Amino acid sequence: MAPQPKNIILGISAGIAAYKMYDLVSDFKKLGHNVHVVLTQDGKHFVSELPLKVLSSNPVHCEMFSHEIQAKPIHIELADLADIILISPATADIIAKMACGICDELITNILLATKAQVYIAPAMNTNMWKHFTTQKNIETLVTKLGYKIIPPEEGALACGYSGIGHIASNEKILKTLFVDETINKPLAGKKIIITAGGTKEAIDPVRYIGNKSSGKMGLAIADAAHNMGADVILVSTVSRDRNYQVIEVESAQEMQEVIESEFDKCDGLIMAAAVSDFRPITASKQKIKKKNEDITIELTRNPDILEILGRTKREKQIIIGFSAESENIEKNAREKLEKKKIDMIIANDISVPEIGFESDENEVIILTRDGQREVLQRRPKAQIAQHICNKLVEIFQKTIKEAKKI
Ligand code: C5P
Repeated sequence: MAPQPKNIILGISAGIAAYKMYDLVSDFKKLGHNVHVVLTQDGKHFVSELPLKVLSSNPVHCEMFSHEIQAKPIHIELADLADIILISPATADIIAKMACGICDELITNILLATKAQVYIAPAMNTNMWKHFTTQKNIETLVTKLGYKIIPPEEGALACGYSGIGHIASNEKILKTLFVDETINKPLAGKKIIITAGGTKEAIDPVRYIGNKSSGKMGLAIADAAHNMGADVILVSTVSRDRNYQVIEVESAQEMQEVIESEFDKCDGLIMAAAVSDFRPITASKQKIKKKNEDITIELTRNPDILEILGRTKREKQIIIGFSAESENIEKNAREKLEKKKIDMIIANDISVPEIGFESDENEVIILTRDGQREVLQRRPKAQIAQHICNKLVEIFQKTIKEAKKI
């Protein structure tokens, strides 16, 4: 482990695990980093300023306001200085404040002002960690703000409980900050379009032909690819607030236009969207009035985006598709893999209600162009997304190796 020296702001909040930060500050220093400790007001009950000052060779900050003349207020100075901000231990309280953008003391102000990557190492009672609100706040920090969580572990807790809530070891924290950062960014430098949701094909200004896709699978893939360093463009029919580019579309034609205008600059495309195969030939400009007779809506075929791009893509561009089927799952997926000339297909069975469209879980078969077959038993979509991105990395690596052989 020989990381580049970094400016680290270590925010210590009021948890018993705060005492472990003496060692962590020491470790940071031994690795050559410049550490500034910021204590919360309640954090002061758990550690003393003097040893932290000696160990970090820097002043320890706690107060928001100073009567001294400063070029910049302290929260902005530290926010701008930081390469990394680590909140450790992070209590349920500071996690909630971060999720809501509350700036009630120095560290929360720094967090709102900084552009640095924020890591948090939570530590708390098991019930507090598992509480819906804490989990919701964690989700906000990860998905909306791009914070990295160093998850708490199982163990005997100071509160008398035994269970999850024990702070991750200092070793794990160091590994996450300095090793995983480089190793776990295997998609860095890759620009990837990911589609999500079901398209809506207008019948009139209020009605459309749609489908049951929730967009969860595509979104999970976009999050995973972003976390692995990819420059993600999410083309989605469902509105999502993310810290990467999201382009909202409604119809298959709009999705096609966006993809075709972006794909040339991209290294990959993952089509997780459920694209309607048909659209009304004409969409009425006015709301269609109710009459006492049946009406017929004539449909025309939408172009198959995946097939068009599969046939025209450059050799190094990788395309992944999905195949949602209610029968002959694998056979149909294999046919699509061939017909659409794509690199990988993920097949799932939509006849099983617990998995698929609106569910948080899925069960899939992954087939690749070079003949690999993998079955992923039922699991959260986030895990399936991670696996798909890992496969994408493998395909990129294989493409590079093959290009070198030529
Ligand atoms: O042929 P089928 O519609 O089952 O193929 C599904 C895959 O093709 C999905 O990845 C979907 O996003 C993509 N698709 C597409 N354009 C369409 C229909 C499906 O890109 N018009």
